[in-house]
Parts: sequence; structure tokens; C-alpha cells
Amino acid sequence: MKVLVVGPGGREHAIVRALLADPYVSEVHAAPGNAGIAQIVPVHPVNASDPAAVTELARSLGSDLVIVGPEAPLAAGVSDGLAEAGIPVFGPSREAAQLEASKAFAKQIMAAANVPTAMARVAATAEEAADALDTFGAPYVVKDDGLAAGKGVVVTSDRDEALAHAEACFDAGGTVVIEEYLDGPEVSLFVLSDGRHVVPLAPAQDFKRIFDNDEGPNTGGMGAYSPLEWAPANLVDDVIARVAQPTVDEMAARGTPFVGVLYCGLALTSRGMRVIEFNARFGDPETQAVLARLKTPLGGLLLAAAKGELDAMEQLKWDARTAVAVVVASENYPDTPRTGDPILGLVEAEAIEGVHVLHAGTRIDDAEIVSAGGRVLAVVALGQDLVQARDLAYAGVAEIGLEGSQHRTDIALKASRGEIVVPAGSAGVDNEKELS
Ligand code: AMP
Ligand code: GLY
Repeated sequence: MKVLVVGPGGREHAIVRALLADPYVSEVHAAPGNAGIAQIVPVHPVNASDPAAVTELARSLGSDLVIVGPEAPLAAGVSDGLAEAGIPVFGPSREAAQLEASKAFAKQIMAAANVPTAMARVAATAEEAADALDTFGAPYVVKDDGLAAGKGVVVTSDRDEALAHAEACFDAGGTVVIEEYLDGPEVSLFVLSDGRHVVPLAPAQDFKRIFDNDEGPNTGGMGAYSPLEWAPANLVDDVIARVAQPTVDEMAARGTPFVGVLYCGLALTSRGMRVIEFNARFGDPETQAVLARLKTPLGGLLLAAAKGELDAMEQLKWDARTAVAVVVASENYPDTPRTGDPILGLVEAEAIEGVHVLHAGTRIDDAEIVSAGGRVLAVVALGQDLVQARDLAYAGVAEIGLEGSQHRTDIALKASRGEIVVPAGSAGVDNEKELS
């Protein structure tokens, strides 16, 4: 099987690496890829968000499957273009990708499917925003309605800051979703869907804020680990029963079946499990941790999803070890990141047993690998437990030399110390209808 992977980041590097380990995959190509991906497969300098260009490339390569990684190409209709050309594609149509591209749409679907989520209101003016903020009270949660690379959400106890974020979104021509604050630990669960059937991957946890102790602004994600030893035993079954299957059913009933990964971002709150958000794609950097453990060949699995045949899949197989991924980011990320600096120590990091490095924002400049984005790399390690996996991942990070770079030092730390508190009754309980 020949597979084309669309996208430029760490998630795509993880997908390409997993595909190369699949005995049924004969050829992997990437577009546009990055410097790390280019070291292992041919890359093609195509605009990932141009449906015609991606379709033409897939046709010329004779691709049997195209995997679309990031949200922007999905929202631009890249999957639709491929489907029209009869090329199997893993990744939802433009309409189905609205589950991620519009937070207001996602809320409508969740209400229709009775999926537990935060109470929320859409606001289009400062008056509406102020009213919604006062209804829900502090801490305030204000979300840009559109795609914002994980950076459109402000969670703050400062009412003025919350209002200012809403006004900035209005000034940019958008609307906001304002919602109740959800307490409790967060979980990312990737659920594969073929439009009707769903198959969950292993749960992961992501670290959204830029600084240790979850301080500073939100980012695309600074690290991840999987599996979650502390998660309730029925969590995955509960998410399938109350979140993923009802959502997939609702999308199918509307004539816009969802084919791809339904990324369920969840909070295990004291009032029950709640969906924080849906994404229509694999998460980054959770994918780097989750795929490090997946033993079932990835190409066959995603092809089954693309062809509507997930019900025929056998139970997934997983490495018993634990994976930790630590992101190395550029100076000044998530603001305007500094780029163009040489990256040293890649070979040394990968020489550590159990460690591999996945590139995100990198490119080749004069035969040298240099930084080219906010999140530059993820150092991924497999260990017998979280303590060992963390030690190995941070030993890898210590080998990386990048001027001005930043990374969190506490990825998976609380979990490794058994310090994550799951509120009693957070899974498998209520499902009160509470959308206003
Ligand atoms: P989102 O883009 O919706 O995933 O939001 C990014 C991050 O903001 C989430 O991972 C949470 O850490 C935080 N967040 C979003 N919504 C809420 C909420 N209702 N309550 C508490 N934190 C939230
Ligand atoms: N890591 C969060 C995301 O991919 O949206």
C-alpha cells in the first residue's frame, strides 16, 4: 500500500514513522513534511491546504490512502477533493471538520446528541459577552469561535482580560463562545471513526500552557504522555458510549458522516465527565506519545477507517511500556517565535535507548537543520513506567542544543508521583441536559 501523509508537523512525523513500521505499507510520501520527515521519506513541496494540488499529487503518486494531519487542510476541503477523485482519505470532509473549525457548531451537535459538555453561550457583541461572563462567573472561559491553533482560548479570573479577548475576536470579524469553567484533570482520547463505527486509541494527557505548573498562555501543546494509569477504569467505554458514538451517529444522521479521528478533549470534573472540545484530527503532541505505543499496523487501521470497515478490525495491540513526549519550542513561542537557529544534538538524543526525536518546525538551511516554527521538536521516550520514560525523555532533551529554546520540566511529573486527583464520580455518572 502506498500512503501520502499531508501536513508539516510533529504529528505527521509520528504518523510517517508508524507507517514505515507497517509491513503492508510499501511506500510513504509526505507533503510538505519537514526536515525530519525528509530524512525518512520523499517529501513534496505542495500547499497542504490546496485541495486540487494535494489531489493531483496523490494521483501522480498512485496513493492508495491519503492521511490528512492538520485542521487547516480539513477545513479547506482537502478530504473532499480526494474523495471526489476516488482516492481513499483518512480525515473528515470540510463539513464534518466543522466539529473542530466552529466551536459553536460543535456545541450544537453535542446538544443534539446529548453529549455532556460545559454550559455555553455564543456572543457576537461586547454586551452579550459581558452578560455571558456574569452568568457563568469566574474563572472565565472565552473561546474564539474559529480555528486558532490552540491559542484562541483564554481562561482567566480577570473579567477585563476575558472581555478584552472577546473584543479582540469581534474586531477580527469573529464571534466567541463563553462557557462555564470545568475543574478536574484533562484527558485527550482519540477515537477513530469510519463514519459509523468507532475504535478508541489509548488515552493521553497534554500540557497546554507554556510554563511549568500550567502557568502562562495556552500553546498548541508542550508535552504528553500515555497511557493514563490514574484514569477511571471505565473512562474509555464511557466516552465511547456517551460522547463518541452519539456524535458520530448525529453527524451521520445529518448526512455529513465523520471519517477520521474524533479527538475528544475531556475534563473529569466533580460533576461528571465533560467534553472541553472536539478536534477533527490527531492531537499534537499527544500523537507522538500514543503512536509510540501502538503495535497494530497503522496503515491498515486508517485504511479500514477510510473505507468504512472499522467494524472488521481486531482489537488493537499496545506496547506495555509508557510513552512521554517533551516539546522543545523556540524562544518567544507562543508569541512570534524566533526561527532560523541551528539545532544540535539530534543524533546524540536518538542514541539513547528508548528515545526518538520527532521534528515539528524544522527545515534544512544550507545542509543544516534549523528551527522553522514555534514548536520545533518532540523528544519521545518509552520506559517501563512514567518515572523511567520521563528520565529518558529529559535525557534526550538535555542533548538538544537550540539557542533560546524552551521546554517544560514537569511533563508527566504529577502523574509519575501519583498526584493526580480524579474527582469522585467523574466518569459514568450524570448526563444532565444543561446547555442554555
Ligand atoms: P480548547 O482549545 O477548547 O481545547 O481549549 C484549550 C485549553 O483551554 C483546554 O485544554 C483547557 O485547558 C482550557 N479550557 C478550555 N475550556 C475550558 C473550560 N470550560 N474550563 C476550563 N478550562 C478550559
Ligand atoms: N495538543 C492539542 C491539540 O492538538 O489540539
